[in-house]
Amino acid sequence: MPDTITKLTYQTFQQGKSSFALGHKTISNRLKSLVFPLRQQNSNNWNPELIFKIQQSMQELLDADWEDSERGVYPAEILFDNPWLDFFSYYPALCLDMAGVWDRMHKRQYQAFSSEIDKEGYPSYYLQNFHHQTDGYLSEMSANLYDLQVELLFNGTADAMRRRILKPLKEGLSKLLPKDQKPRVLDIACGTGRTLKFIRAALPKASLFGVDLSPAYLRKANELLSQMPGVLPQLIQANGEKLPFRDNYFQATTNVFLFHELPHFARQRVINEAFRVTQPGGVFIMCDSIQAVDSPEMMPAMKGFSSIFHEPYYKHYITDDLVKRLEEAGFVDVSTTNHFMSKYWVARKPESVEG
Ligand SMILES: C[S@@+](CC[C@H](N)C(=O)[O-])C[C@H]1O[C@@H](n2cnc3c(N)ncnc32)[C@H](O)[C@@H]1O
Repeated sequence: MPDTITKLTYQTFQQGKSSFALGHKTISNRLKSLVFPLRQQNSNNWNPELIFKIQQSMQELLDADWEDSERGVYPAEILFDNPWLDFFSYYPALCLDMAGVWDRMHKRQYQAFSSEIDKEGYPSYYLQNFHHQTDGYLSEMSANLYDLQVELLFNGTADAMRRRILKPLKEGLSKLLPKDQKPRVLDIACGTGRTLKFIRAALPKASLFGVDLSPAYLRKANELLSQMPGVLPQLIQANGEKLPFRDNYFQATTNVFLFHELPHFARQRVINEAFRVTQPGGVFIMCDSIQAVDSPEMMPAMKGFSSIFHEPYYKHYITDDLVKRLEEAGFVDVSTTNHFMSKYWVARKPESVEG
């Protein structure tokens, strides 16, 4: 396909996802206000200038996504990757689940789990209905609905934000390894495996590993990743605070959308563990929500996000100095960038580590 046609197709594809998400949110908010008319509704101060700025940064994100594929960071096909089967199978379930979600929101129930969910062995901070999700991260249905929910939340841009880790990842690896050598890459809190899928597309020969606390999400990741050519990534149920790998094992470690869901002490421990398992000279790349310093005008929306979406650690996260945490762990050359609603930290483990 000539480039201009591919680019137009990509823009139309993204426009379609965005319109669908906006339509879904409009209808579901109206329904919610019919069911719970007395409850105060989300009243963010979305002034026209802010809306314009948000639309502009969304467009810049999509431009960056397109440009990275054009530069060969990853193949163009990946731009159109969408879990269609899941979409058609689970969108009705997502709609049916909404009544239960609103009921829990109304009753302010934030740690409600079905009786058959085994809650043993998880850190207490994890046992939450993050984003009011039914059964938190601990059921098959939650794993089936998760990608769809994130796409709706970010108006169809979640994958474009995940893919922004790929350029710094490849750059970091190219400084470290000869071209023909296969890197080992770990994605911490891999969830349903979408980031690993994109890393596989960008680095077809890499040995990939993923850890997550949720067995249901790991099963979902396995389902997704086993459809891809190449060696299946190794998926392990583990806490990012205590990684089951030896020191210096990986040339690169990544994580996407994890840190805002961790209390501050766990954030530092995950960073310390990422440092331990990364090879000297290797890179650690994190992607998560923007923070207060990045966009002060978004502060009212960020504060609202914490309570409206039940994100109990988000308020602390948006003011947490993660550069300092990375440096405290021993990382150097820490740089940060923003794309739309997300922020990226790229850090390097020094060649010689003292102690
Ligand atoms: C918001 S989701 C992000 C998932 C995925 N990285 C993505 O891009 O969609 C957060 C994930 O972190 C996992 N998680 C939370 N705390 C964890 C921890 N301490 N160790 C490992 N995984 C954790 C959850 O099970 C969930 O899959």
